[in-house]
Amino acid sequence: MGGFSIPVIIGSTRRGRQTPRAARFVHGRLKSRDPVESALLDLREYDFPIMEERLRRRDDPPPGLAGFSRHIADGDALVIVSPEYNSGYPGVLKNALDYLLPEYRRKPVGIVTVSAGSLGGASCLAQLRQVILSLGALPIPAKLPVTRVGSSFGEDGEPTDPAYEKRADTFIDELLWYTEALSTQRAGDER
Ligand SMILES: Cc1cc2nc3c(=O)[nH]c(=O)nc-3n(C[C@H](O)[C@H](O)[C@H](O)COP(=O)(O)O)c2cc1C
Repeated sequence: MGGFSIPVIIGSTRRGRQTPRAARFVHGRLKSRDPVESALLDLREYDFPIMEERLRRRDDPPPGLAGFSRHIADGDALVIVSPEYNSGYPGVLKNALDYLLPEYRRKPVGIVTVSAGSLGGASCLAQLRQVILSLGALPIPAKLPVTRVGSSFGEDGEPTDPAYEKRADTFIDELLWYTEALSTQRAGDER
């Protein structure tokens, strides 16, 4: 297996948000896999304005957007850690995803859904999968729902429930399988 780059998007910008706990955890597990490198892309830090036009049609891109695009374009896969809001994904996440398009093409996407209760964000997962297909990427079949995020993880991303370690490792195994398979195929596209 060659070296893979797999950025992780934190899809929550809410004041007092809990999603970074789960994102830090998944990011740490991903980085522990040799030879994976991973950047944590925090939408709160990017603070993108409402999308007026996609990056490739802008000659005045908002600050940070070119760098965000490069992370996704150079990535072999993508992980999105998204809270469930009103049975869907947050608007801020859709806004950021909509800025780009060719950057996602034929890449696998692992989705981690985060909820404060016991349901784990199943509706958010279904909706995000649909969006990802429209972006030309492939949502992987494996899922990693996070329930009761505030008590399941510390702020540093350390799980209080050790079951998450095995779940995350299975999820990452699957993601890496698709990452390797699709990057081999994409290399063939470019020849
Ligand atoms: C506007 C809003 C809507 C929400 N809707 C849902 C929901 O539909 N289902 C759910 O399980 N949790 C819902 N939650 C709770 C979030 O899942 C919870 O806040 C969790 O900590 C993850 O989001 P966070 O990163 O904003 O903390 C909602 C939270 C907010 C702020």
